[in-house]
Amino acid sequence: MFGLKACLSGGLLLLGAAVTEAKYIVPGARWRDTDGNLVNAHAGSVVLDNGKFWWFGEYKVQGQEEGGGVSVYSSPDLATWTYHGLALEPVNGHPYIAPEMIIQRPKVVYSESTGQYHMWWHADNSSYGLLLQGFATADTIEGPYSFVDATAPLGNWSQDFGMFTDYKDGRTYALYSNGDRREGRDVYLTSYNKEVTGLDEVVYRFDKFDLEAPTILQTDKSYYALMSHKTGYRPNNVVAFRADRLSGPWSQPWIVAPLNTRTFNSQSGFTLRIKGNRKTTYLYLGDQWDSNSLWESRYIWLPITIDDAKKTLEVEWHDVYDLDVKSGKWQPIQGREYLAIDAKTSGNAFKQEANFASRGTIVTGIEGNDSTVTFSGIQGTGKPQWVSFYYQNTDDMGFGDQPGGSPDRIGGSWQLRRIASVVVNGNAENVETLYQRDTHKGIILSTPLQLTLEKGSRNTITVGGLFNGFHYKGADIDRIVVYPPEN
Ligand code: GLA
Repeated sequence: MFGLKACLSGGLLLLGAAVTEAKYIVPGARWRDTDGNLVNAHAGSVVLDNGKFWWFGEYKVQGQEEGGGVSVYSSPDLATWTYHGLALEPVNGHPYIAPEMIIQRPKVVYSESTGQYHMWWHADNSSYGLLLQGFATADTIEGPYSFVDATAPLGNWSQDFGMFTDYKDGRTYALYSNGDRREGRDVYLTSYNKEVTGLDEVVYRFDKFDLEAPTILQTDKSYYALMSHKTGYRPNNVVAFRADRLSGPWSQPWIVAPLNTRTFNSQSGFTLRIKGNRKTTYLYLGDQWDSNSLWESRYIWLPITIDDAKKTLEVEWHDVYDLDVKSGKWQPIQGREYLAIDAKTSGNAFKQEANFASRGTIVTGIEGNDSTVTFSGIQGTGKPQWVSFYYQNTDDMGFGDQPGGSPDRIGGSWQLRRIASVVVNGNAENVETLYQRDTHKGIILSTPLQLTLEKGSRNTITVGGLFNGFHYKGADIDRIVVYPPEN
């Protein structure tokens, strides 16, 4: 149904009229706020309030999983983000929001009845033993929010937490997985009371699918619920269910992205409906977790294609796209491709037959700074440009020659990423780090970097390998795609 190649080359087609002004959205890049800091709002949710988008997420402290609180950013266009600090700050000694507690998957909704903003999240201790829903309120959307309570929803357990407001009747629902124990492993959809201060009744239970990271989106005809499997911070195949009514019957689940891409290396968590004056666009807001360094985890935001007649939904990959939130229209940006088969290798790096790669060839054996691949004749503009590196990392949950680790085997450890070095025009003083997460054997994914090339067509880009804690190997390289600058 998908065909990765078709899907990726589809990314080069231009859709519709030119979109103005908006900055590009680049899934998986290091996203920076207007102060230049990395956006730190993981497992986030976005709400539109008075014409502005507000992104709430888990603020991850370097070296820690818990304790960071909830950060909040605002944006006029979903591409430029301004930091407003912590909306919910950890409080020392507090039973639920102390720095050693889990504050995950925050969601915010405006309550007409109380005239306040209500924040709900997964509240827990660091061993995930409490399984509660936290509740805090604020008079303004950016907070600060004051803690109200942490409760068990209708006496049940609650782990990964989602929230959904029906645009037809304004009713808000909680969506939560009830933990990993055998008595749990369901996902509940439960309505809130009118005030959104507590839960009312269970509307549906996704029974024993053992899924998490749930989110619901709504079209004029359907509801779609997206959820991931449970592999911690490792990505897997996100699935979707469809229904005419929230109370069901819900369909069988299906996989939303090309097989074996593990949802383009991401976990679900939120979906955003952008109702423009020309078009309604749906975005998948996923997390590309980096379990070596959670705070640096990236965001994979992608357009969703829905066919209500066929009852299908797919998440589409695009390296770089331009979204106009006013019209609701978006278009992929077209880049220029340079294939590894035409590039030059050094040292032990070499070109190898790979029937799934561009023109049947991939460069492998990249390691350190003496076994590299160099692309040349690259056209540049002298301004910062996005460059996508298409790679294959076959570590697959382990690395063969490490003690206790081996690809796809019992007891294998998840390597998660190789790190490549990227050097422009041989300038070894300026080495960029390119994280290359596991793909799968035969699966080529891309990851972007913003580079400044010289004006003209004489640029070179050299890819080598950097130390990832185990070795200096870079992933195999298929091609690079160079995108035009934003302005
Ligand atoms: C999954 C959940 C996250 C977090 C991690 C912890 O990824 O979806 O919210 O709890 O597990 O391992």
